Amino acid sequence: MSTIQIDQLTFRYPGADAPVFDKLSLNLDTTWRLGLIGRNGRGKTTFMNLLRGQLSGHGLIKNPVTFNYFPDAAINRSQTVMAIMTSTGAEEWQASMELDRIGLDESYEQRLFDTLSGGEQTRVLLARGFVNENDFPLIDEPTNHLDIEGRQVVGAYLRQKQGFICVSHDESFLNLFVDHVMSLNRSSVDLVAGNVENWQVDKERRDNAAITQNEHLQHRIKQLSSRANIQREWAEKRERESNDSSSRRMAKKLMSRAKVFEHRTDIAIEQRKGLMNDVDQVDRLRTNVQQTSGGQLLFSLRDFSVKRQNGPLFQPVSLDFHRGDRLAIIGPNGVGKTSFLNLLRGQEKLAYDGYLMNDLPQDIGYLSQ
Ligand SMILES: Nc1ncnc2c1ncn2[C@@H]1O[C@H](COP(=O)(O)OP(=O)(O)OP(=O)(O)O)[C@@H](O)[C@H]1O
Ligand SMILES: [Mg+2]
Repeated sequence: MSTIQIDQLTFRYPGADAPVFDKLSLNLDTTWRLGLIGRNGRGKTTFMNLLRGQLSGHGLIKNPVTFNYFPDAAINRSQTVMAIMTSTGAEEWQASMELDRIGLDESYEQRLFDTLSGGEQTRVLLARGFVNENDFPLIDEPTNHLDIEGRQVVGAYLRQKQGFICVSHDESFLNLFVDHVMSLNRSSVDLVAGNVENWQVDKERRDNAAITQNEHLQHRIKQLSSRANIQREWAEKRERESNDSSSRRMAKKLMSRAKVFEHRTDIAIEQRKGLMNDVDQVDRLRTNVQQTSGGQLLFSLRDFSVKRQNGPLFQPVSLDFHRGDRLAIIGPNGVGKTSFLNLLRGQEKLAYDGYLMNDLPQDIGYLSQ
């Protein structure tokens, strides 16, 4: 058991306003199954690139392991799966065993890597990263090409391993195998034992406490500054109208009371600083949805399937879709989900079996994978 030590690491991209990491210090055990999470642009990929020396920052990174990186393995994609596995220096029997563990049987060994599906290529590259026992894989978003079953298989595979870091936005996938979580927050980094769910419960509790405290302070600041203003106004009025020493004394007293309230306001403002720094506000997804009275039939399918060269892509489906409906389309890799959407959006002219009535507007919103 050894440790990757990170001490006072600071890194800024040239020309960027703020550093991605500012004096980050932490120790990572080399036996952990570490899930690295954080919203887009927080620095997950940057962190991996710093670890493996693709980028260099200020501070210290002491690492006792050999990193490899998914998905950018230095491979020749026109080689066979076996050639790619053994180019790491591993023996063929080790390669076979590793492929088998990740659900790829012997029939894959002599296949050309290029001819594998996206999900199969992912599995080969992951197995390659673990085939040498002392290597420490840095895995950046492995789920892109994996269907639901593929995620289960890869999740179970990773659960058998020790010593790697995996970035993913799919929390349920990470929860299949991680034993530690590192979260890149807006202004801090959390490193905790447990899975993403454990971290989330804890983060939510901290966020809620910060939100409550913030509301309380906001209220108090408003109250205190209004009191300060009132005292100050009275003091100034007394001061203007004063013609004897007792009125002047009163004015002075009111003024010092105003100052006390002002001082308390400053303290509350100070306490509020930084309080909400780590609370994520969720941006709304903007679409061009138009409000209508609803119910209009937008498309209709009867015994419908999209056709490619080799015939229909999926079993015939029948359904009616009305304005306001919410439809989930699920299915394994390559079954034709995107093809179906492309056809509906008029993006691709595709043949189909059965009946299709398509009355969708021209300008429907579309967010790609
Ligand atoms: N080559 C670069 N030059 C300048 N800025 C960069 C560069 N690469 C990344 N950044 C910026 O650094 C920040 C961190 O980026 P990074 O790619 O590490 O984020 P990430 O957490 O991996 O995000 P995602 O979840 O989208 O993959 C972002 O603000 C990004 O715009
Ligand atoms: Mg990234």
